[in-house]
Amino acid sequence: MDPSTLGYISYRWHRISNPFSMEQLERTLAYTDLAAGDRAADLGCGNAIVSVWMAERFGLHLSAVERFAPVAVVARETAAKPRTQGVVEIVEGAAQDYLAAAGQHRLVSMIGAIDVLPGVRRPVDVMLALIPSIAPGGWLLWGDPFWRRPPSAKLATVFSEERFDTLAGWVAAGEAAGLIPHHVAVSPDAEWEEFVWRMNASLEAWAEEHTPSADADAIRLRASMLRTLYLEEGRESMGFAFYLFRRPIA
Ligand SMILES: C[S@@+](CC[C@H](N)C(=O)[O-])C[C@H]1O[C@@H](n2cnc3c(N)ncnc32)[C@H](O)[C@@H]1O
Repeated sequence: MDPSTLGYISYRWHRISNPFSMEQLERTLAYTDLAAGDRAADLGCGNAIVSVWMAERFGLHLSAVERFAPVAVVARETAAKPRTQGVVEIVEGAAQDYLAAAGQHRLVSMIGAIDVLPGVRRPVDVMLALIPSIAPGGWLLWGDPFWRRPPSAKLATVFSEERFDTLAGWVAAGEAAGLIPHHVAVSPDAEWEEFVWRMNASLEAWAEEHTPSADADAIRLRASMLRTLYLEEGRESMGFAFYLFRRPIA
């Protein structure tokens, strides 16, 4: 099964496809000077619920970029709902293609997109590549898991150890890329629990809906593997946070 379809099955029941709340997002973005009319991009927007919320909250003109066609359909439906302010354009395609032609933004957000610049894996390298898309004095909102403690070989293999960092490592990656760290907001454990178990429920239900089939067997196996990994180690080894950086004004 391709990774995009797997992601779709995993997150089809999530309102937000990451372990955080809108309250946490609002608290983080309160440290910015974003204003109505500012240009923004949300890379790997998923169903665009978060993108639309940001656009409406701050009156942004926001491009929400999603490469997986069935999810982009859902994103368009979200963006079509009435709102009080803000403009949202759903861009169906790869973030790297969008960025190559989009110019600068006052906010670039990248919340759990995992593979935002294919082939570029180290956090500092991804951040460096994003800087030209952020206007001087603009903001990078990054949302991703962090390692609470060094992962076992098994956990490191499943979650690609080099893709993530410790909390201090994420902040250091931004600094090494030339950004100024402004704020970090760590998700409460309850967000992780809800996020993981909602995914597990969706995977198990999908397997039931598609039994008998090889795909159903594969999804059931994946659910079992992730569940075991989470219970044995993931709960203690991983956290999730927003890391808010600013590009220096000059
Ligand atoms: C875990 S979901 C997160 C969605 C949203 N940011 C949220 O927090 O609810 C990640 C999404 O990013 C998309 N994605 C990953 N890499 C991408 C890329 N290079 N370009 C565009 N979309 C990408 C995936 O298709 C998926 O829908």
